[in-house]
Amino acid sequence: MYRIIHVNDARHLSRNFGFFDTLGLKGPKPVVIFGNLLDLLFVSKPDLEVQRTKQFGKIYGIFEGSKPLVQVAEPDIIKQILVKDFRVFNTKPRITNVGHPVIESMLITTRGDTWRRARTAVSHGFTVARMRKQYVPVRHCVSEHLLPVLYTHADSRTPCDLKRVYSCFALSCITRCAFGVPTDPYNEPQHPFVANAWPVFRLPVWKLFALQVLPPYALRLLNISSFFDETRIANIARTIRQIIRAKASAGDNGDDFISAVINSKPDVYDDQDVDSLVMAAKTDGQNVVKAPLTEDEMVAQGFNIFTAGFDQMANLLAFVSYELALKPEAQDRLYAEIVAAGAHTNGEISYDELRRLPYMDAVVNETLRLHATPVKLRRIPGHDFPLAGTGIVVPRGQPLEIPIYANHHSDEYFPDAERFIPERFLPENRHNIKPYTFLPFSTGPRVCVGKPFVLLETKLALFHVLRRFRFAVHKDTKVPPIVKTHPMIKSLESLYISVVARD
Ligand code: HEM
Repeated sequence: MYRIIHVNDARHLSRNFGFFDTLGLKGPKPVVIFGNLLDLLFVSKPDLEVQRTKQFGKIYGIFEGSKPLVQVAEPDIIKQILVKDFRVFNTKPRITNVGHPVIESMLITTRGDTWRRARTAVSHGFTVARMRKQYVPVRHCVSEHLLPVLYTHADSRTPCDLKRVYSCFALSCITRCAFGVPTDPYNEPQHPFVANAWPVFRLPVWKLFALQVLPPYALRLLNISSFFDETRIANIARTIRQIIRAKASAGDNGDDFISAVINSKPDVYDDQDVDSLVMAAKTDGQNVVKAPLTEDEMVAQGFNIFTAGFDQMANLLAFVSYELALKPEAQDRLYAEIVAAGAHTNGEISYDELRRLPYMDAVVNETLRLHATPVKLRRIPGHDFPLAGTGIVVPRGQPLEIPIYANHHSDEYFPDAERFIPERFLPENRHNIKPYTFLPFSTGPRVCVGKPFVLLETKLALFHVLRRFRFAVHKDTKVPPIVKTHPMIKSLESLYISVVARD
């Protein structure tokens, strides 16, 4: 059963270590078995990305175990990869060496034609018309699952773990908006969506390393196939499958995302949806199988939306609150904008007005810049790919990474990059931002399909929370906040902040 690593294995595990020398690329020195992964034991992934880009420049190489990964932070080449030569790059490296059936079929991981079919189906759930309808359930969740919890904390004058509070709120929103299922995470913890939501993200450090260095046979022996918790994936997938079956048999054509996926017609684009049109333009002409999604594929899209709509949303809201607590003058300015916008509407705001608040938009964007949750994007070229202006040709099939987080923290693109300065994103200053340096949702045909929903939920929650409460730093507030060890995401462990009621 057990294999001891001997000299030949060690040679095998370091056989690629000359790869970047042949390409003429610099990079940190790798060690056998782990490549450059051990650095993660000392520095968080986001900070490591920033350090490495400063040290090695805009194009360099790292090793994940024995696998080389070319890093490309040059904006013009990023444009080529994500937009201009999208067809060459419509493949992503597998997140794991093994492949879990649900994870492998999620929109975010699918490739080529499979991706195109899934993208068309999922896009139907995120059109402008659908977003207007989602306003109502999100507003309901703000009233039912966010404001009362914050009032309780404010009344008791205890610091509040905002990561937890926003996680519960985000969970109530995503189960209602994605599946039409109301949940109450505080009072109904046994609901399968609630009970499995936190544990599915549990990623022990040993598993993180195992996934990146062990060969597939060893991972199979250990029953590891994903960064998520395998048992919890099964539980959530089972619940989603039951919902899909119930909706299909009832002929339910609701406003929730999964109903849109179930009822979508292959290759029909929404002419109001810019992303959908960009995607059509960039990908048409391929040899696409025009078949609707199978039940397994729908379950996978449901799982993708559920996970994206939970932890990442909670992180974004918590990071905004953290920055506003640290910078009271920004909080005051946003509060003034919110009060003015709700002055003649009894403290409410319409969907269109919400999108037009300039300082709100600037605060959310500046938070996404500083704390963009996916740290990098990954792609594989379908043919040998010259990196323009460098003389370097990346061989076909060689994975590339785009370190978006590092670019967001570059003083060259964002002067005084570590400071929270929302004014950068005000309409009068936006032209100063170099294209393809700010990519919290990626761009091109594979741009985050949930982006309109993220902005709706985040802004609507902030609008109502900040009208009623003020955030302040507490002695338990960690500056900088503690983030989890994760290879792709900047995610908060917890975030303790004082919440003070304004009235
Ligand atoms: C703060 C919140 C979020 C951020 C920063 C974010 C960011 C991103 C980014 C950068 C990508 C591109 C990944 C890549 O190409 O490798 C992506 C893809 C995706 N996102 Fe989001 N996302 C967020 C929330 C959401 C939500 C709430 C949903 C759904 C309700 C969602 C659904 C998706 C899906 C399905 C994809 C895959 C798109 C494709 O490959 O065609 N995201 N997201």
